[in-house]
Amino acid sequence: MIRSSENGHLDEHRFEADLTLRRLQPRLEEVWQHTTIDDAKRHEFELRLAEHWRPLFSLLFRLYGTRYDFFFHVEQVLRTAAKAWADRADDLCQQDRRRLNDPDWFQSENVVGGALYVDLFSENLNKAREHVGYFQDLGLTYLHLMPLFAVRPGDNDGGYAISNYRSVDPRLGTIEDLRLLARDLREAGICLVLDFVFNHTADDHQWAQRAQAGNREYQEFYYLYPDRVMPDRYERTLREIFPSVRRGNFSWHDGMQQWVWTTFNSFQWDLKYSNPAVFHAMLEELLFIANMGVDILRLDAVAFIWKELGTSCENLPQAHLLIQAFNHLARLAAPGLLFKSEAIVHPDEVVKYISPEECQISYNPTLMALLWESLATRKVDLLTKTLEHRHRLPENTAWVNYLRCHDDIGWTFDDDDARAIGLNAYDHRQFLNKFYTGQFPGSFARGIPFQENHQTGDMRISGTMASLAGLEQAVEENDPHKMELAVRRMMHLHGITLSIGGIPLLYLGEEWGMLNDYDFVNDPAKAGDSRWIHRPKMKWEFLAELDAPVDAGSGSIRKRIFEATRRMIALRKTIPALAGQSMELIRTDNAHVLGYLRANEGNRLIVLANFSEQPQRLDGNLLRTVGMGRFFEDLIGHKTFATSEDVNLEPYQIVWLKRV
Ligand code: GLC
Ligand code: GLC
Repeated sequence: MIRSSENGHLDEHRFEADLTLRRLQPRLEEVWQHTTIDDAKRHEFELRLAEHWRPLFSLLFRLYGTRYDFFFHVEQVLRTAAKAWADRADDLCQQDRRRLNDPDWFQSENVVGGALYVDLFSENLNKAREHVGYFQDLGLTYLHLMPLFAVRPGDNDGGYAISNYRSVDPRLGTIEDLRLLARDLREAGICLVLDFVFNHTADDHQWAQRAQAGNREYQEFYYLYPDRVMPDRYERTLREIFPSVRRGNFSWHDGMQQWVWTTFNSFQWDLKYSNPAVFHAMLEELLFIANMGVDILRLDAVAFIWKELGTSCENLPQAHLLIQAFNHLARLAAPGLLFKSEAIVHPDEVVKYISPEECQISYNPTLMALLWESLATRKVDLLTKTLEHRHRLPENTAWVNYLRCHDDIGWTFDDDDARAIGLNAYDHRQFLNKFYTGQFPGSFARGIPFQENHQTGDMRISGTMASLAGLEQAVEENDPHKMELAVRRMMHLHGITLSIGGIPLLYLGEEWGMLNDYDFVNDPAKAGDSRWIHRPKMKWEFLAELDAPVDAGSGSIRKRIFEATRRMIALRKTIPALAGQSMELIRTDNAHVLGYLRANEGNRLIVLANFSEQPQRLDGNLLRTVGMGRFFEDLIGHKTFATSEDVNLEPYQIVWLKRV
């Protein structure tokens, strides 16, 4: 039988894998004997080991097989996984079993996500527990809490410079508070999503401190160089992620008299995964976090975790092997856990992280960027061209569809996709940057530049959803017509992420149409990073506006946005056709209207979305063939459409059509 190359690798190391496992059996026994695990639970692990061992071994072999101490590391890794499973709490194990029986649990139409900063939203973890009802009321079943672990003092990149993965930032609470919040969320049917910031630690993490103190073992945890020889050789092929903070990818450390690899800020030290001790140390942190009751781990900055001279050091094959190895270990020790990939890179590379064996879910940065692109151009050609060949994913995986998050917007579409519809990608990105920073004549957007690179002309965009969609300008000009259009744009975008296939993810604050917060410049730890403009503090007084009469000034706009958002989320959950990932584009013969069909187990829904502020028309017959019916009801606006007539869409209208 001929096997695929993947399985070929698997087979190549099969005999060594089996032999090693036999040799390790007594070590495994030792682990069990030091815990209180019962026979049944132990048996479950052994069954899963039978399934995952060979591929895991093969991955580790390809990463570290040339090391003299390879078998020592393999043993450590296996023991750590076994110990984590033995320690895993009963309720989590029960949930694991349910998910193993229902591997598509996250594909349900009931899954709707939200992301927030604990401090900005509710001060601390204990207060967040008081808001579980708010999340439920909004309809969330998935909650991503931005990094909440102990961080270095001063600038910590919004929590992404972690100094200890096992303790919570004391300003937010304790590990115990986190455990309690996780439990409350679980009881409320809400999954907890936390970051696994594994590309780098803060410069004051214990490992980094030991390295600074001269400890050789820990100096091997990072990429350190005594002079510019290697850094310069690497720099030839590297890009700069935060060029306005610091040029290049290395930072000089006075104490050590060494250059440190720092892809992001100079205080975020990249971990050296070519050292298997780093892999093992981070596995321990991963499984510790998983056992706190985390359902989904957001793997931060996946693209950067492996470096190789002469390459861009992004998206290297070994990065995939590494994540796959982590994934097999998670299947063993915390099988209900999902990995979510954060790869904000070229679309060809984004999909490579997505498979049941690697990351089961992934941000969809291409869709995000192209929805904003279509809003600016009022045309759906690039969006359609891209969706045609880029939306489909392997079985048992899903996109996470979002509009804004705590990061900037980068125009990560494919240049060839752009060329195919007659666009010059460079010029088009320049146009989008101008448009979203409000410099293009007639633009409704109020974004600001992020990491403008004058050398390359590259720039990304910061700003909240509402400010980018025109609400800030409209409110400032006190223009009711512009306000109307801005609200429609927002609901239009939500209408797509809630229906296009995958997990919709709100960035909290969107439900109130929160505007840019320009105050960040007054905080020296934030002033240099314009992403803080779209990280505003929640204002709980907004809730009172829900009871206020409709004409209560700007409060009424917020009320309208909140209620419309909540209604649309609730509506999604009543539509079985919205489960899963399959999506087929529909020909609309109208340059401004996106159309697609969602089908799932005999249920169908047609979505039409008008990206322009002009009314649009399309031939009703186009629906007939895909929907195989004559009458359709719009579940959002409750209007009936007949395929024998023209379908008329109002400015920015989105319809979810069901056959009647
Ligand atoms: C991720 C985060 C971003 C952070 C970076 C470095 O991309 O989303 O906020 O700056 O990683 O950790
Ligand atoms: C880059 C990185 C991404 C990170 C972002 C932060 O786009 O690819 O991982 O989130 O920078 O701005």
